Amino acid sequence: MARTSFLQASVLLSSFLSFTHAQSATPTQLGWSTTLNGTPTSFRSVFTIPASADAGADVLPNIQDPQAVNAQDVCPGYKASQLRETDAGLSAVLTLAGKPCNVYGTDVETLTLKVEFQSKDRLAVNIRPAQLDASNSSHWVIPESLIPRPRAEGSHADLDLEFDWSNEPSFWFSVTRKSSGDIIFTTKGSHLVYENQFVEFVNSLPEDYNLYGLGERIHGLKLNNNFTATIYAADVGDPIDRNLYGSHPFYLETRYFDASNKTKKPLKQSDLHQRSFGYEPNASKSPYTSASHGVYYRNLHGMDVVLSPSNMTWRTLGGEIDLFFFDGPTQPAVTNQYQTSAIGLPAMQSYWTFGYHQCRWGYRNWTETRSIVETMRAFNIPMETIWLDIDYMDQYRDFTLDPVTFPPSGVADFFDWLHSNNQHFVPIVDAAIYIPNPTNASDAYDTYTRGNESGVFLTNPDGSQYIGAVWPGYTVFPDWMSSNGVAWWVKEMVEWYKEVPFSGFWVDMTEVSSFCVGSCGTGNVTLNPVHPPFSLPGEVGNVVFDYPEGFNITNATEAASASAGASSDLAVHAVSPNATHANGMEEYDVHNVWGHQIINATYQGLLSVFPGKRPFIIGRSTFAGSGKWAGHWGGDNASKWAYMFFSIPQALSFSLFGIPMFGVDTCGFNGNTDAELCSRWMQLSAFFPFYRNHNVLSAISQEPYQWESVASASRSAMHIRYSLLPYMYTLFHQAHTTGSTVMRALAWEFPNEPQLAGVDTQFLLGPSILVTPVLEPQVDTVKGVFPGLIDGESWYDWYTGERVKAEAGVNTTISAPLGHIPVYVRGGSVLPTQEPGYTTTDSRKNPWGLIVALSADGEASGSLYVDDGESLEPSATLDISFAAVSGQLKVDVRGEFKDNNTLGNVTVLGLTGGCGPVKLNGQPVDTAKVNCNQDTSVLKLSGLNDLTNGGAWQGNWTLSWT
Ligand code: NOJ
Repeated sequence: MARTSFLQASVLLSSFLSFTHAQSATPTQLGWSTTLNGTPTSFRSVFTIPASADAGADVLPNIQDPQAVNAQDVCPGYKASQLRETDAGLSAVLTLAGKPCNVYGTDVETLTLKVEFQSKDRLAVNIRPAQLDASNSSHWVIPESLIPRPRAEGSHADLDLEFDWSNEPSFWFSVTRKSSGDIIFTTKGSHLVYENQFVEFVNSLPEDYNLYGLGERIHGLKLNNNFTATIYAADVGDPIDRNLYGSHPFYLETRYFDASNKTKKPLKQSDLHQRSFGYEPNASKSPYTSASHGVYYRNLHGMDVVLSPSNMTWRTLGGEIDLFFFDGPTQPAVTNQYQTSAIGLPAMQSYWTFGYHQCRWGYRNWTETRSIVETMRAFNIPMETIWLDIDYMDQYRDFTLDPVTFPPSGVADFFDWLHSNNQHFVPIVDAAIYIPNPTNASDAYDTYTRGNESGVFLTNPDGSQYIGAVWPGYTVFPDWMSSNGVAWWVKEMVEWYKEVPFSGFWVDMTEVSSFCVGSCGTGNVTLNPVHPPFSLPGEVGNVVFDYPEGFNITNATEAASASAGASSDLAVHAVSPNATHANGMEEYDVHNVWGHQIINATYQGLLSVFPGKRPFIIGRSTFAGSGKWAGHWGGDNASKWAYMFFSIPQALSFSLFGIPMFGVDTCGFNGNTDAELCSRWMQLSAFFPFYRNHNVLSAISQEPYQWESVASASRSAMHIRYSLLPYMYTLFHQAHTTGSTVMRALAWEFPNEPQLAGVDTQFLLGPSILVTPVLEPQVDTVKGVFPGLIDGESWYDWYTGERVKAEAGVNTTISAPLGHIPVYVRGGSVLPTQEPGYTTTDSRKNPWGLIVALSADGEASGSLYVDDGESLEPSATLDISFAAVSGQLKVDVRGEFKDNNTLGNVTVLGLTGGCGPVKLNGQPVDTAKVNCNQDTSVLKLSGLNDLTNGGAWQGNWTLSWT
């Protein structure tokens, strides 16, 4: 086995590293065979790419090689000199401190160090070669136009971070929080290693650190302190702990302290265990406090972050050290600082995108697609958007329709009908572009021809076209760095919209995925179309007989009859590192942003199709900042309980990454789901911003109406979701304007409770809705904590409105029979609601409502944002604020947007002194509309509509109940 790399073992990275930089791709040796192309689009005999074409060289990553040289042992580090200090920072020259170690490349002799106090909450450290060698693209300085660099802004007088450094024994630096003396980052005790294709530094961490982020991966929310977080975009079916589709070199760290002494060392989880997680019986306040900070490493090369119990080692394949430290000191402040100043605020989504989305790989024709939409309605399960996977395409070619199953002649009927019901359609569009067989004139493919003429595809180092393979056969790949790439894509979208009136785009395979190593199609295009080098789900020998855990208990007959079928994972691959861009960059250096760039191109395409409207994009591969254009789905999970659980930490991590429009394949993608899992999952996902059910070709159907229990569970959770759409939309607007998060970890809202640091089985939607889902089969209770009780917080049961009686810091057993998802409203909140309709358009015509959940001292506040639901820059908006105190709710309306819906109902939770006469603007409200329940302390006002004729938000009003 070759020992050439330091990165973690993964199928993808092994093949990735089997290429040395700039080595020419050799056309893969092809074997001949024929197989039936078992796709719903076209059945015929085609050549199958042999499996060997898909196998990268067998390399042993150094991280798994006990004999690998540790750069820290042999490299000399650097010495700083020529120090220049200014008020805004400092600069220095770093010179190699000894003999070059050349351990994984060639040491760079001289580096420059630049430290900037960039703002009141951000410090930047940049280290790069003094001489940027034009021939070494791996030292590429990322252009602003691709990934903007946070700039110095405003005054830094209040910056609570300071920079220290020393040359002993070699150059190291640290960043310290001035107010507490806490060193948040230090490379002391390690050597800086800077080679042409290998950059390493190590920073120490406190024992039992609480670290979050460094995605994308399937992992618990809090990162373990003994594993390697590889960051390298990969098309892999959601393996646990490995690198995945997106690249987010950012982490949040939270340190807990004794509230009485913040200057002491951070508390260890083991200290807390000793003290027991509960609080003293008479405690009325948490004895703990916390401080959080964030670190963004603006580098887009393949990267390993090796997490050990006391430090983290950063290793990248090139680029600069470009670090940004955000001082928080709360978790929300860190996310806010990261989004507002570094990567950009998340895109505002159109209102309709928060409706329910139904998808699957395997909807076979217009008739079947229509019947899915009709059946959803027949079962009265709200559905906003129907999605189609690659089945609709002509032989899996982008911007086409299968002439037989999805003929253009069926388009008008289908869309007239769909749109007349206020429903939407989103198609999948793949990254790879089919390259037609030049010997077959009827194989011509205009999208390719136009792209080829405009020079928009990746090449091999020798300038020939790079030809990989994806679903349609041999394919080429758009080069977003070519001068015409984006314009070509935009035009393809604009033209195709004239044929197929889509409402958004789902961009898939964007890592960018290719099913063979190197330019395997070079010299072989006359074989096209060819079949991928593995069988597709559902093809002979690849039948899914895989059921979730516990399925055999409740479904004994079906389980027994499901014979042991072979199910194989899809192969895992990407365009090789030597694929070359028009500007000379190789994929080696820019691989991690391909998915980010197609999102950008698609955003521009949608802006051209729908001028002035908010583009809706769900992308698979993302980079830091993709959230300003797109949402993301969790990729190819499995129909397993574990993956339902992992969807929560995934979503919370994407909150940190500034991509709040997140959801997963509800009910599971790979393998068969079952009624119990799907029922629980449909309820859980109803509280995620992006709510879509999707599964693989050949797995059983899993639309929520397939089982009565799932239908009913879905209806009840969707009733809550659609009631809360105004709240969800307001949260999104806040995220879009301020960098706040939508789905939140308990720890972020309750920073004084160290025992919440790792909680990812529960979550908050915004500040006010707590969701405690069942995540395992065969149970009818779930354990969950009610955060904040120690500091006087109250929680109310969504369903009964009653105040929860629970102990602070203690896991409480909650009843949760199948069909019931425990949801709680936080005391102190006013939540805007609207009566649910079948679609979001219907819902938006319905009366408004308010839930006023009083805090222990009888107060509550909240807000509502309203606009036309689709304009990028709405010409009129409404900003409504709610404040309840002493038995009186004041509603303050600002803005010009016209909304004529009346106020239907108001529910007040947690009344302390019972209810007196209810008055709206001083006028008594008819007692027939008032229901005051002294036992539950809930006041329900309903049928209020005639009191706000002309609309609930026509002006300010006051409601009183004492
Ligand atoms: C991979 C995607 O992740 C999945 O969602 C999709 O169904 C398949 N590609 C087929 O297009």
